[in-house]
Amino acid sequence: MEIKMQDLFEKALIASKKSYSPYSKFPVGAALLLEDGSVITGVNIENRSFGATNCAERTALFTAVASGFRTFKAIAIATPTADYPVGPCGICRQVLSEFAPAETPVIFGCSNEKQVKTTLGELYPYDSLHELAK
Ligand code: THU
Repeated sequence: MEIKMQDLFEKALIASKKSYSPYSKFPVGAALLLEDGSVITGVNIENRSFGATNCAERTALFTAVASGFRTFKAIAIATPTADYPVGPCGICRQVLSEFAPAETPVIFGCSNEKQVKTTLGELYPYDSLHELAK
């Protein structure tokens, strides 16, 4: 099944409604496209001990890996309350790079009109993990 990046973004947007973000009031949703066309979503889950917060991207990735999936075709991230597209944080870029190659398409945005379409390699360049693992 072919799923378009725009459809994936829509799923991230819907997922963001489940965000637990009482402290920042900044909901984030992520949607990870699996090899078979199915999608696993995640949200940011905050904590009163702020450092214990988990971003939406890592929630989606950890859910997927815990469910037995390790190959990903794309990721979408939605930050609906922002005025402009907000990209994944540095920790999430590092964690995503563990499982997804540089060519992996990434779309992030706050609406259908305000989006950035890029790749993981552009967001996290000079990452040698996949080369070292060969
Ligand atoms: N956050 C994410 O979930 N993903 C991002 O890409 C950016 C930041 C969350 C962490 C925190 O719950 C809130 O957004 C504000 O930083």
